[in-house]
Amino acid sequence: MNLYDRIPNNVNLSEDKKLQRALEKWLPNYLDWWREMGPEGFQEKDVWLRTAVDVGSEGWAHFDYVKMPDYRWGIFLEPPQPDAKVGFGDNYGRPAYQEVPGEFRNALRRIIVTQGDTEPASVEQQRQLGKTCPSLYDLRNLFQVNVEEGRHLWAMVYLLHGYFGRDGRDEADALLERRSGNPDKPRILEAFNQPCDDWLNFFAFTMFTDRDGKYQLSALAESGFEPLARTCQFMLTEEAHHMFVGDTGLGRVVRRTAQLMKEGDVRELGGIPLEIIQKYINFWFSYSLDLFGGEISSNSADFFAAGLKGRYKEREQYTDHHASNENFTMTIVEDGELKTREVPLRNALNEVLRGEYVKDCEKGLARWTKVLVDEGRSERLYLPHPRFHRHVGEFAGHTFDIHGNLISREEFERKKSEWLPTMEDREYVRSLMHPVIEPGKIANWIAPPATGIKGKPFEFEYVRL
Ligand SMILES: [Fe+2]
Ligand SMILES: [Fe+2]
Repeated sequence: MNLYDRIPNNVNLSEDKKLQRALEKWLPNYLDWWREMGPEGFQEKDVWLRTAVDVGSEGWAHFDYVKMPDYRWGIFLEPPQPDAKVGFGDNYGRPAYQEVPGEFRNALRRIIVTQGDTEPASVEQQRQLGKTCPSLYDLRNLFQVNVEEGRHLWAMVYLLHGYFGRDGRDEADALLERRSGNPDKPRILEAFNQPCDDWLNFFAFTMFTDRDGKYQLSALAESGFEPLARTCQFMLTEEAHHMFVGDTGLGRVVRRTAQLMKEGDVRELGGIPLEIIQKYINFWFSYSLDLFGGEISSNSADFFAAGLKGRYKEREQYTDHHASNENFTMTIVEDGELKTREVPLRNALNEVLRGEYVKDCEKGLARWTKVLVDEGRSERLYLPHPRFHRHVGEFAGHTFDIHGNLISREEFERKKSEWLPTMEDREYVRSLMHPVIEPGKIANWIAPPATGIKGKPFEFEYVRL
């Protein structure tokens, strides 16, 4: 692994001069973007970060203080499998593609650009959060997530530069030009244009939206296009930490709220009421469901047939990797009513992947339920019905209540303040966000973590301010 090259990598970049030059041209633009759109106010601070020094499981053991602009962003792929085969679809069992198959070039570039666009977008969404961190521990976790999203951008840009020629380079430039929430040049997917300006948003985002990333990456990690598969496999090891931050972060907010409920009125005591936590869950869960795409999708069928994008744990969970003779039963809206319809399985694969995601989210809810039980509370948090508040697919353009019942737009408008964060809710949450930067101290609205990072105590100086 060439860690101390200008661009750290394990793809022998120095042997591919053309690619190396192209990426070295992109590097200063990336750093300009990072300085302009990365965490505001902390660029020169020492942050105790983990850095990849190897792609093996031990490679993550390296923790040290780093200034974020000096982070070793680079290109790390899982090692190749000799005799890699296409694992599903019409070309099942044939040798994996080492180059982009011509007929799928546009589709594949679209997949990579769409994934790549989410990475810098989330850094942009989170850039102000450092100023209101609830503890140094949380501040460090935020920055760890941010630098890794930056590296994920590198991962996708490597594929664009390495396998798509001129238009790949143009796309790589455009990834640094769009801006989250900017009406003139927005990020591609809507969840990545939503503001993420308080820590409850951040935890809900890393719980639900980064988890979408896990499922998209997992489906691509078994891609027949081998460089993409190996890239995504390594990204998944980083993604796990992001979801940990969101899952445990929300769990700690729930714990603190439950503790305050025993003492009196949560608002008066400066905590976040469970109803507001529930509304943030409803908001980010529904936007994250949209990221899987339409319920019935010819793209999903094409990608699967081509062996580019599979199902979750395709090799492990399934025996029929053709999936060409089965149907999938789904609910759709027809003539103003919910009806069931049989769809060829390959056209329903977005919905199949979304179903896996929902199951995973339910496990998170079960962990928070356990927190409530531990604290002696009978209240519960829940996931809204997947039809609720959707902007993409079969249910977009219709309105549903939180249980998934079709309701009129008027009724939705009347009730929506019960289900989704209102301006007042957001302002209230923001009013609690004051920085706590003394080692070992924590904001009043969140419980401390059960343990620190990598054997360090919670009191450790995770960021030197
Ligand atoms: Fe990412
Ligand atoms: Fe992530």
